[in-house]
Amino acid sequence: MKFFIDTANLAEIREAHELGVLDGVTTNPSLMAKEGITGKNNILSHYKAICNIVEGHVSAEVNAVDFAGMIREGEELCEIDEKIVVKIPMIKDGIKAIKYFSDRDIKTNCTLVFSAGQALLAAKAGATYVSPFVGRLDDISFDGIQLIEQIVGIYQNYGYQTEVLAASIRHPIHLLKCAEIGADVMTGPLSIILALLNHPLTDSGLAKFIADYKKGNQ
Ligand code: E4P
Repeated sequence: MKFFIDTANLAEIREAHELGVLDGVTTNPSLMAKEGITGKNNILSHYKAICNIVEGHVSAEVNAVDFAGMIREGEELCEIDEKIVVKIPMIKDGIKAIKYFSDRDIKTNCTLVFSAGQALLAAKAGATYVSPFVGRLDDISFDGIQLIEQIVGIYQNYGYQTEVLAASIRHPIHLLKCAEIGADVMTGPLSIILALLNHPLTDSGLAKFIADYKKGNQ
């Protein structure tokens, strides 16, 4: 399973990268705004700074919602670095834009996906990644994990190459359930990756090993 970090915060991206388990980064306009990154030039150079830290794919979202605008923005984003994946919303013009980019071997991430039908369309258009939002579905009492399972099954039936990127992952159980089902990628905050480290028996066991070592080596 690939681990992507869902943030535009450079310190967090660096920390996840230094842990040695980071496969990529996803961002969105809200995450960029949270870091105070505004204005086209600042946004483009922030993406470059992210690409300079990580080795894997970096999803950079278009802000346009019309075909021509998405193509224009997507082409500019691709110029930044070969790690850039153009993140495009699941709307009619978005599907056309994904097809346009896929025909030109430009990687895309179809975002704001909340149903299996949307995921099927994204795969047919040739998206590199599809991003179903698990947490946001759970927020409105729909089962986000069940959607991931449905999409993984449909893609397996037809051998689609589109990778299922479980997004809006809010806690370690989300992550583990997605791993059990076979989601290709998960994206979430650094805290979720770090939470995987924790177990009280690890802490107490290590404390005893350290104490016993000290007793015999004073
Ligand atoms: C996906 O690419 C989105 O950036 C993200 O996972 C949304 O997560 P949220 O629902 O926690 O905002």
